[in-house]
Amino acid sequence: MAMGIALVTGGTSGIGAAFAQELALRGNDLVLVARDRERLDSTAATLRGMGRSVETIAADLANRDDVARVAARLEDLDQPIDILINNAGFGIRGSLIDVDTTELDRGIEVMCRTVLVLSGAAARGMRVRGSGHIVNVSSTAGFLTMGGYSAIKAWVTSFTESLAVELKGTGISVTALCPGWVRTEFHQRAGIQSGSIPSALWLDSERLVKVCLDDVDKGKVISIPTVRYRALMFLLRHAPRSAVRAVSGALSSGRRKQAVSG
Ligand SMILES: NC(=O)c1ccc[n+]([C@@H]2O[C@H](COP(=O)([O-])OP(=O)(O)OC[C@H]3O[C@@H](n4cnc5c(N)ncnc54)[C@H](OP(=O)(O)O)[C@@H]3O)[C@@H](O)[C@H]2O)c1
Repeated sequence: MAMGIALVTGGTSGIGAAFAQELALRGNDLVLVARDRERLDSTAATLRGMGRSVETIAADLANRDDVARVAARLEDLDQPIDILINNAGFGIRGSLIDVDTTELDRGIEVMCRTVLVLSGAAARGMRVRGSGHIVNVSSTAGFLTMGGYSAIKAWVTSFTESLAVELKGTGISVTALCPGWVRTEFHQRAGIQSGSIPSALWLDSERLVKVCLDDVDKGKVISIPTVRYRALMFLLRHAPRSAVRAVSGALSSGRRKQAVSG
């Protein structure tokens, strides 16, 4: 894996914080992007304590002016970014037919448009240098049909594969990380009840990130950490779409019942 400066969106919590930590351990300097200024400062202080140089950019990635500032940092050829981790994101619970589409609009801005803009900004500089890595954090939910979040993450995986095709032969690796359930602030922030999820299906963000970075080294375009999830996703990806919809419907209705009783 190329060494240098890594820019991690959502690098202050959960999976993004684990990426920042692991990349620092592997000798990279960092640029962290998130909204909460205090958390950016405290995460940066921890990473500086590991001997790394750390910049922070306070930005709301649902705001297009803020996204343009981050894109400008990625295009700064004087301090080139070698690794981009498009990780910032959140759960979406609303119905697809809600009149108020605010939550979905924000989801599409942060998890689709921002991923598109920042990937392009990073890739233009990396192509000139003939090296670099782009990791887009997608989800196994993208292989299912469970509402707006599934649709958004299906786009992230498909976009990443398309980008990998477009950038083949340029020296840039492109990887979609598709995690299952990971213990982070994600579920609590979205108000998602996760009590009924079997403990065997929970992943630990540190381990997840190590597997992903090893997959990047191997040139994998889709990284699905753990054998258990790889087996489940193999079945889903080879099942008839009608079966995928049936499984998605059963999982969604189980979640709705739990929300009513919980
Ligand atoms: N946890 C899971 O089970 C799971 C499974 C599959 C995929 N994922 C994906 O993994 C990624 C990371 O999620 P996580 O589980 O680590 O969640 P998390 O612990 O809630 O962390 C989310 C991070 O994203 C940042 N963020 C959120 N909205 C933002 C915005 N509008 N602008 C800038 N930064 C923003 C947050 O910082 P601020 O609040 O300070 O902005 C925080 O650093 C997401 O893309 C998620 O969809 C998670």
